[in-house]
Amino acid sequence: MSEQQVKKPIKITETVLRDAHQSLIATRMPTELMLPIAGKMDQVGYQAVECWGGATFDACLRFLKEDPWERLRKLRAEFKNTKLQMLFRGQNILGYRHYADDVVEYFVQKSIANGIDIIRIFDCLNDLRNLECSVKACKKEGGHAQVALSYTLGDAYTEDYWMSISKEIESMGADSICIKDMAGLLVPYEADRLIRAMKSATDLPIELHTHYTSGVASMTYLKAVEAGVDILDCAISPFALGTSQPATEVMVETFRGTQYDSGLDQKLLAEIADYFRPYREECLKSGLMDPKVLGVNIKTLMYQVPGGMLSNMVSQLKEQNASDKYNDVLEEIPRVRQDLGEPPLVTPSSQIVGTQAVMNVLLGERYKVATDQTKDLLSGKYGKTIKPFNKEVQKKVIGDTEVITCRPADLIPNELAKIESEMAQWKQQDEDVLSYALFPQVAVDFFKYRLAQQEKVDLTKADAKTGSYPV
Ligand code: CO
Repeated sequence: MSEQQVKKPIKITETVLRDAHQSLIATRMPTELMLPIAGKMDQVGYQAVECWGGATFDACLRFLKEDPWERLRKLRAEFKNTKLQMLFRGQNILGYRHYADDVVEYFVQKSIANGIDIIRIFDCLNDLRNLECSVKACKKEGGHAQVALSYTLGDAYTEDYWMSISKEIESMGADSICIKDMAGLLVPYEADRLIRAMKSATDLPIELHTHYTSGVASMTYLKAVEAGVDILDCAISPFALGTSQPATEVMVETFRGTQYDSGLDQKLLAEIADYFRPYREECLKSGLMDPKVLGVNIKTLMYQVPGGMLSNMVSQLKEQNASDKYNDVLEEIPRVRQDLGEPPLVTPSSQIVGTQAVMNVLLGERYKVATDQTKDLLSGKYGKTIKPFNKEVQKKVIGDTEVITCRPADLIPNELAKIESEMAQWKQQDEDVLSYALFPQVAVDFFKYRLAQQEKVDLTKADAKTGSYPV
């Protein structure tokens, strides 16, 4: 058989329940909208449905007044045949600081116990030491541990770098690798080179995750598939393109009848698209979906800045009445990134670099003031960057503070017991401890809201019994 004839069906992970709505409508899709279509989605035969983690946890508690754990259990009950996938920020879990190992382990344990099959774990510096604990915990709980590499450009990110880090991931005991191109920087012919190089370095399945932001994503997928990628992240069409992923139906159609035919049923996908289309219209009408995020933003490629980071920057400048400084900040971002060891720009490094760049420009002197996060990064508290820090900048920002070179979490004592005692009065289920650990203030606000709702229900029940009305 020639290479052309060997069947290699492409697998598809559907992101509509996590990344797609996180990217297009600020993570506001409620659980009640997901459940009626879940049964149909379960029949498709996706590799997995990404439905939890990332910003969904925070958004559930903060904006939707939903218990994220309850969402997961409800989805699990509907998806009887499909693997459920979540996005996990290594030692940051789903928050913004480094947590102690006992919190990371407990979060992984509870995620899997409540229904997650695949945990996609990444670190904003690609420092694999920050993933060790969660990968180990995931394996211990019987989960599939996927390590995601934050994809970025820069002279340190050579083919050799991607190949050797792929090997390291394999020896860590991970089950698969994801190339996480959060900014849509991976262009088609580069994808071909990258996938071939990584495939030559590892036998692990490789999944490609990108965003349509710069307009090249579906061509990138085509080249990646020809180069041997195993799984593609796609979103059903009403929630695809723009800052989201390529459309599921388009990818299925692209490979139909070829050796890469996914075999997915286009009719079933059309029914799923029909379900989400009116919701998309509603989001456009209400302004929740901004047509701006649906177009091609080529600046992403020019400045190598993720779309979400650009919009944060615009709003920070607006707040300071300094919108005219937009271009200055755009030029400052790559300089700050260099000073800070050229990290990929993804949560939380994107916020650290972005906010510092804004401050450097607005205060008229670079690093006159540094954020706590910049200080932590330059003290090694986030881990090791690919390049050394700019020594002068480091000296100006942290003076003679000792710099950490070990795995940062080695210096964080276990904290679960302390966290649990802090929030004991609110605890209704074990998982509440974890909600509180990640977002203390937001979780307490939610616990109060939940209690008030429960009291309301109790009151209604009492009224029904006595037949009286509340005065
Ligand atoms: Co993404």
